Amino acid sequence: MSKLIVVANWKMNPQMESEALNLFEKTLAAAKSAQNVSVIVAPPYPFLESISKRWGLYEAEKRQEAALHLAAQDVFWERDGAYTGEVSPSMEKNMGVAYVIVGHSERRRHLGETNQMINQKLKKALEFGIKPILCVGEESRAGDEIPESVGNQLRAALDDVSAESAESVVVAYEPVWAISGGASSHPDTPSDMHKAALYIKKILLDMYGRKSADKITVLYGGSVDSRNAVSFIAETGGEVHGLLVGRDSLTPDFARVIQLLDRYARQ
Ligand code: PGA
Repeated sequence: MSKLIVVANWKMNPQMESEALNLFEKTLAAAKSAQNVSVIVAPPYPFLESISKRWGLYEAEKRQEAALHLAAQDVFWERDGAYTGEVSPSMEKNMGVAYVIVGHSERRRHLGETNQMINQKLKKALEFGIKPILCVGEESRAGDEIPESVGNQLRAALDDVSAESAESVVVAYEPVWAISGGASSHPDTPSDMHKAALYIKKILLDMYGRKSADKITVLYGGSVDSRNAVSFIAETGGEVHGLLVGRDSLTPDFARVIQLLDRYARQ
């Protein structure tokens, strides 16, 4: 089994650089003791550089096989210019960012990000050698089927992306109702995640063929913690290769998530 992926999406937390560095140290320690898990940390922009520097001190000589990678939570679709408030892919690249989250439902909802904007961001990230973690997921689910809107988000985000480039994309299925914070949020079930992963895989197969589709990693996200983490990998027919974790990644429980996945992957 190739390494499982765990993304720590800190969202708009914590508030102080010292807290961010502290959280990073704890996450790094957990990542280092897990040989079979690749941990990707996505701090808020203001802490990216200091975390990158701190991490560089540890890993300078062997970044390639590092236990940990840095992600940004967003990116703009131009390299430079008059775009107040935006952060470019080249700035991120220069800070050692390897991945970027695009299409998160919180940005779709609160910032009005459209599929077209997400497509532009994803393509620009790829152009700069940053791997997009593309989030897709429905607002609500009525019946048994994965809603068409998920397929539409996926196709639109990957519009005009070649098979070769698409192989670097990580797709995170995050049903919006499962993301913690909502009044009635609760995790999806592994069996529905299995269904979602097969649905996503079918679209990728249609778009890119077997060889490339098989290289695209699919993650689950939404109220993950150490009680449910392994089930999303173990009970999804080998279709899910990791997790995108929000709230829990700010807590001591996250080290346990990493440890449990590592143990599972070792089997
Ligand atoms: P959550 O967030 O783990 O807090 O539900 C996941 C995400 O939105 O990335």
